[in-house]
Amino acid sequence: MTRATKKRHPPKTKNDKSASRNGVSAKSSSPREVESLKKLVDQISHAKQMWQATFDAILDPVMIISQDYQIERANLASATVSGIEIRKMIGKRCYEVFAKRDSTCPFCPLQQTLKTERPDSVFIDKMRPNEDFQVSSYPFGPVHDRKGSVVHHYRDVTEEKVLQQKLMQSEKMVAIGMLAGGVAHEINNPLGGILAFTQLAMKEIDEGHRVHGDLKEIEGAALRCKKIVENLLNFSRQTKDSDRSSFDLPQAIEKILPLFRLKLKSMGIDVETNYDQSLPLISGNESRLQQVILNLLTNASQSMPEGGKITLRVRRSETNGSVKLVVKDSGRGIRKEHLSRIFDPYFTTKAVGEGTGLGLSISYSIIAEHGGRIEAQSEWGKGSQFTVTLPVSRDSTKEVS
Ligand SMILES: Nc1ncnc2c1ncn2[C@@H]1O[C@H](COP(=O)(O)OP(=O)(O)OP(=O)(O)O)[C@@H](O)[C@H]1O
Ligand SMILES: [Mg+2]
Repeated sequence: MTRATKKRHPPKTKNDKSASRNGVSAKSSSPREVESLKKLVDQISHAKQMWQATFDAILDPVMIISQDYQIERANLASATVSGIEIRKMIGKRCYEVFAKRDSTCPFCPLQQTLKTERPDSVFIDKMRPNEDFQVSSYPFGPVHDRKGSVVHHYRDVTEEKVLQQKLMQSEKMVAIGMLAGGVAHEINNPLGGILAFTQLAMKEIDEGHRVHGDLKEIEGAALRCKKIVENLLNFSRQTKDSDRSSFDLPQAIEKILPLFRLKLKSMGIDVETNYDQSLPLISGNESRLQQVILNLLTNASQSMPEGGKITLRVRRSETNGSVKLVVKDSGRGIRKEHLSRIFDPYFTTKAVGEGTGLGLSISYSIIAEHGGRIEAQSEWGKGSQFTVTLPVSRDSTKEVS
């Protein structure tokens, strides 16, 4: 009994006194102390709520991860991105749950942070299927202790990388455009002379003469050079605002298609058009955009030497106020390893003299000048599809039907 009483009321030690003073021993506490204890508990739970709300408000995935890659805490964004509830993530390995891998991600900064006790950051390509991330690791807690953990912040950089590549592509275009413009200009005059004198000489010589055939070859080569020079000059030319107008894309296509259709027909290629009924006008340089369409049609026709079908479709984009032009062909398609290079200047798979490799890069810069984008999809052996998206004209009050 005595012992039991003793247990319930142990003698007060120095520490007990301080605990009581701090309001820990509620039994012996005065109402004022109880009040202050409640206040303290409120403050702690408010701080916890604030911490949790801040953690969850971060739009990027953030996790606390132990040194053996186990997830200790994860914010809401982690669950959204991984598609797994937070409670189901806890205790699992981050690379399994978040990165969907069987082993640690290459270059994971976790071990480096544990070793150096300093933040570290790496870019991990295809960390999740088709998604690139920047993973930043921050030391958390006593890292030398077994319980050492790190805070991982994951930033999805997939789109950023695409934009960066596009920017690099545009920069390349500007540099090559300037260079090519200068060179083309210099070549144009002597080339004009070669062509004019060759044609004059051809008039002076009988068609049956052996030299006539040679001159014909020179003329053909000079004409091919002229085409290249024209392409280069076009490439380097910037669209002036005064060259722009609001126009209807299907009408612009119909102005150039009949002539081209005849040529395609002789190659065994059918062209089918399909235009949405009510399309807004687009703003830009009509002849430059016609050049893009001709480039796409030329490429499509060159991809089907045995004939086939080209479909031209113009429709209004469902998501925003833009107009989409889709040029689809039943040609041989583009090899996977070439697809990322087709918009590069001078990239061609055609024989020397057949292609300069400038058609698509010129088209790319024309579409970029118009604030639009051009994308390609293709499967080798199954044909290709080019999609051009153009913003609608601001003064497109007039709907064309
Ligand atoms: N519709 C298509 N089908 C198959 N391959 C294509 C198609 N469009 C483009 N390509 C590929 O992309 C490459 C680059 O095209 P691009 O128009 O820039 O140059 P090119 O056609 O080779 O030469 P150029 O247009 O200067 O005469 C082509 O050589 C071809 O390999
Ligand atoms: Mg081409």
